[in-house]
Amino acid sequence: MACVGRSLWQTRASRSSVPLRMAPVAISPVHLARASAHSDAAAAPPPPFGATSAKLKQVSLPAPTRLPVTVSLEERRARNEAKLRAVQRDFRTDTITVPNELLRDALANASMGDSIYREDDDTNALEAWMAELTGMEAAMFCVSGTMTNQLGIRTHLWQPPYSVVTDSRAHVHMLEAGGIASHSFASVNSVHAANGHHMTVEEVLDNCVLGEDIHTAPTRLVCVENTLSGMIYPQDELVRLRRALDEFDIKLHCDGARMWEVLAATGMSLKEACAPFHSVSLCLSKGIGAPIGSILAGPADFIKRANWHRKAFGGGVRQCGSSALAATLALQTIFPQLPRTHALARRLAQGLVELGVALDLPTETQMVWIDVAPIGISMKQLKVAAQERKGITMWEPRGRLIVHHQIEPQAVEDFIDLVRELRDENLEGAKAWEERTGADRADEIRRRSRMYAEGKWEGRVEGPPKRLPAYSKE
Ligand SMILES: Cc1ncc(COP(=O)(O)O)c(C=O)c1O
Repeated sequence: MACVGRSLWQTRASRSSVPLRMAPVAISPVHLARASAHSDAAAAPPPPFGATSAKLKQVSLPAPTRLPVTVSLEERRARNEAKLRAVQRDFRTDTITVPNELLRDALANASMGDSIYREDDDTNALEAWMAELTGMEAAMFCVSGTMTNQLGIRTHLWQPPYSVVTDSRAHVHMLEAGGIASHSFASVNSVHAANGHHMTVEEVLDNCVLGEDIHTAPTRLVCVENTLSGMIYPQDELVRLRRALDEFDIKLHCDGARMWEVLAATGMSLKEACAPFHSVSLCLSKGIGAPIGSILAGPADFIKRANWHRKAFGGGVRQCGSSALAATLALQTIFPQLPRTHALARRLAQGLVELGVALDLPTETQMVWIDVAPIGISMKQLKVAAQERKGITMWEPRGRLIVHHQIEPQAVEDFIDLVRELRDENLEGAKAWEERTGADRADEIRRRSRMYAEGKWEGRVEGPPKRLPAYSKE
């Protein structure tokens, strides 16, 4: 049985003539002082007509017992500082960054309107700014990149049967909990990009279902991801793709979770980068470092309908000014730092390649995809040693290292030093790898890795075929 609990608070208060029992918990003096200031303020207004204060029911909730609600402000501060120190040495992902002081202030000082009624100034301002920068007619702030992608897809598609064409590695297809099927009832034709880097126009068209054969699900939408695994989709190919799709009235959506990295790497404006697309999703909580949020931009009538779907998805946020202002400030202050993160990523890639580590993909932005088999160790060994010896956190089995804006340069140097230590401790392992692989192939891997470390690719990129968490080289 499900309960819609919106008015539960009132129901409880009107039925109960005794206060809910307070659990005996330790609440810090700071929190007690705050809570009593709040209840004093609540008690301040005069009682309603015909009632006296004595007659009003006293209601309260059992106090929270879980940490950190019960700790002092000083301890909270210490915990957050420890978190920031950990994040500075955490290469798992760029979603791991923590809000800095500027963003935390925004959480307190933002506008307080209801964004569903379009009455929140900071949300309205961010949406207008994003529409202007993308060159699209309208933009909408949502809680996550998954939501802006799935809303975009849902809004482009009207009535099944239809299909979506996307890269076999695309987040919209692989890592959004099957949302294309459950939200949009569409089938997916996934393209295995032959060059390992991006889908070509010809590959996309080969996978589009055209015509009206009733056995088929005609393609109505193509989704591209830019960057994909840190790699930048060549802009001229995107322009060609849009032209080709226009001939068949197929729409083009971009999962631009990391579009900001494209701008930082290429110097393109957001407007130029978004020009080939009918709609674009732009994450704010990845490289940009906002605590929450993603933008969906597109034509005005498209965003109007997407807003409707957002409500149906349960994604309408009431007083979301704090999130919108934090995102606005992050765009203004953290976006300019991205070239620095790219330079650090290149330093990491080059340092590792000099030690004999192979790269699976070119380091075009902030991601470094490593394969440590050539130096005779496993990803698991590396992960454990990184944590134990250097206090560095990374993922395995996927060899993806992300340099985000809070990574400290020393963490990069320490990681390179660690790999040097491990290589020197495992020389036999490296020899065995060379024998297994063959000298010519080993040379080719080293040559390719050197090129990838400079962000270059030529010919086919061989790197990890899938993005599933289960992917393992072992
Ligand atoms: C390429 C890409 N698109 C979309 C998303 C979804 O973003 P969110 O985690 O905000 O739902 C992610 C998340 O990592 C991503 O990497």
